[in-house]
Amino acid sequence: MPGKMTLSHAGFHVYDMPAMVDFYTGVVGLKVTDRADDDRICFLSADPDNHHQMLMVRGRETEIGKKHFNHMAFRVDSLAQVKEVYRRVKDHPGASDVSPRTHGNAWSVYFKDPEGNMAEVFVDTPWHCRQPFAEPIDLDKTEEEIAEDTLALLEKETTAEKFDEWKARFREELGLD
Ligand SMILES: [Fe+2]
Repeated sequence: MPGKMTLSHAGFHVYDMPAMVDFYTGVVGLKVTDRADDDRICFLSADPDNHHQMLMVRGRETEIGKKHFNHMAFRVDSLAQVKEVYRRVKDHPGASDVSPRTHGNAWSVYFKDPEGNMAEVFVDTPWHCRQPFAEPIDLDKTEEEIAEDTLALLEKETTAEKFDEWKARFREELGLD
């Protein structure tokens, strides 16, 4: 059964709901779209097409630092937005492991939220290359410099191509054309 599916949301349990809601609204840039009266569950989004992109539920039992979850990723529209989130996260005392990287097909900032969950905010680049591919980038540089640095990395990658070419092949594989 071919067809397109878009990732809509991730959900996880939290210890400290107010601190986690403050982080994802005030620092990462999401809005609370709904929450239970007793704050047992909270829905957040920054996309009118998704009522919630993440939901947090009180009652986390696993210790912070124990592996239970890898990461969730928010796509934004511009490199300027990624740079802005990077600046805010870097200045936030509760965030840790702030790591700007390019996957060739994305410019990303990864970070851990105040409860140690890894999140990513990224924008697509115009290119694609075989994954996994992750190289550090300097998000303090200008957008032009970041693009130049990424192109220099991709020159060494034999699988690098235009994102549109990869998309066209995958559409065909999914039977969408
Ligand atoms: Fe990711």
